[in-house]
Amino acid sequence: MKIAIISGSARPGRQSHQVALEVKNRLDKLSTDNWLWDVKETNLPLLDYTFDSHPSPGDTLKNLKARLDETDVFLIVSPEHNASYPGSLKNSMDYFFKEYAGKVFGVISVSTGMLGGISAAKNLQQYAITLQGIAYPQYLITPKVQNLFASGVMTDEDYGKKMDRFLQGFLSFYKKQQ
Ligand SMILES: Cc1cc2nc3c(=O)[nH]c(=O)nc-3n(C[C@H](O)[C@H](O)[C@H](O)COP(=O)(O)O)c2cc1C
Repeated sequence: MKIAIISGSARPGRQSHQVALEVKNRLDKLSTDNWLWDVKETNLPLLDYTFDSHPSPGDTLKNLKARLDETDVFLIVSPEHNASYPGSLKNSMDYFFKEYAGKVFGVISVSTGMLGGISAAKNLQQYAITLQGIAYPQYLITPKVQNLFASGVMTDEDYGKKMDRFLQGFLSFYKKQQ
């Protein structure tokens, strides 16, 4: 089982990326074949041609396509920006379509507010369904992300436990789909 953790914020100083790295660390203990798709690092241009219609996709898109083809499961870690997920995430993911079909999607939302990005989480589940994916019905929200880490280390054990429970539930949901 190959899992892609997608880190969705492209902002300098983004806080959701710490959550994505923490998810990767914890998942690596449960399942070995995980990779991080960091939309900031990939830095795809504003979408003109999707991969399938592209007259000359470059190496970045070709490599990404190959990795997406091998991926069985997507776990999106997204900030909430204006009550939804950010354009950086959608712009990056929209280059592809059939690479997602029939695959399982999980959602973790992140915000500095009390509601933990719940609007972004719900919108992302809908997006996953539009991509013909199978959305894990639960999601993990991350309120007050500014209080969860110190120097990149997670210090909030309650949230850590919630994350572990979410990841275990998500993996067992995936296994039941097989
Ligand atoms: C353009 C923009 C819009 C935002 N809108 C919301 C929002 O609707 N709800 C919310 O809880 N936080 C909102 N925030 C704050 C984010 O929750 C905060 O930046 C958090 O750290 C996650 O985003 P990041 O990973 O980009 O840092 C917004 C931030 C930005 C930059």
